[in-house]
Amino acid sequence: MTHAIEQRDRWIRAAPRWGKQREFVRALTAAASDAMLAAAKPEPGELWLDIAAGVGDPAMSLVDRVAPNGRVMMTDLVPDMLRTARDNIASATGGRSRGLVAVAAAAEALPVKPVFDGVTCRFGAMFFAEPTVAVGEIRGAMTPGGRSAFVVWADRERNPYFTEIEGALRDVVDDLPVHDPDDPHVFRYAPRDKFAALLRAADWVDVNELETPFTMELGISASELWDQTVGLSVEVAGLVEDLGAERAAELKSIFERRVEQYFPDGAMRMPAVVRIVTARAPD
Ligand SMILES: C[S@@+](CC[C@H](N)C(=O)[O-])C[C@H]1O[C@@H](n2cnc3c(N)ncnc32)[C@H](O)[C@@H]1O
Repeated sequence: MTHAIEQRDRWIRAAPRWGKQREFVRALTAAASDAMLAAAKPEPGELWLDIAAGVGDPAMSLVDRVAPNGRVMMTDLVPDMLRTARDNIASATGGRSRGLVAVAAAAEALPVKPVFDGVTCRFGAMFFAEPTVAVGEIRGAMTPGGRSAFVVWADRERNPYFTEIEGALRDVVDDLPVHDPDDPHVFRYAPRDKFAALLRAADWVDVNELETPFTMELGISASELWDQTVGLSVEVAGLVEDLGAERAAELKSIFERRVEQYFPDGAMRMPAVVRIVTARAPD
């Protein structure tokens, strides 16, 4: 299977769970989103694009920054993600679009003119089937000097949210799939400067990378963390399903023991680190 088909299939299957867990993902990554928006610097009245927008977060925060006359276009590979995003926006605003439009499109083929003042992309770039094509295409959607802020996960060792699940799985599942470092994967752009170099090669200018540690703070237990997290990754959900009820319960208790240290007072306080990469389209 090519990366494009594989990714499309993966995210189509993930969309229903992402829809249900929108609030969990929003709360988990709120600090990273705030840092991304602070780096992107959207201004009232501007036109922004949110790529790989998922179920509408952070586009909903972005549109507040460009209000009252600005607009945000959300794009994503998977129409169901955007359908959920539109429903969420409608229920939050009593049916008004609030300056947000949604267009289903791969980042590698954006059906837009070069009219955007800026672009954000949170946790999307790692999954692009053709990253070089995508970052060139996104640049082509910008007005001269248009700004961008991309968020990618940084070092595996400093992101226990992912590695503790992986570690628990390794205790229970033989032969966990291994990812080629350049294949679509959550840590594809974890190495310092890897995504920044891709932007430079695609003629983005003023490329800067900011390593941004933050804390995932949520009033949930380790057991709730497992339940909320497991379906967000199609791979993990599939592996757990294959285990059967007894081994799945064993896996969950291994996970709970591993993450105990991040629940000091019964609530979650887990360190995480992202890279926020900003750049401009040439003048
Ligand atoms: C980890 S989710 C992030 C969603 C959202 N940006 C957020 O931060 O909650 C990754 C998203 O990327 C989308 N995606 C994957 N490959 C894509 C591509 N080539 N072009 C556009 N979207 C893509 C998926 O459909 C999914 O919604």
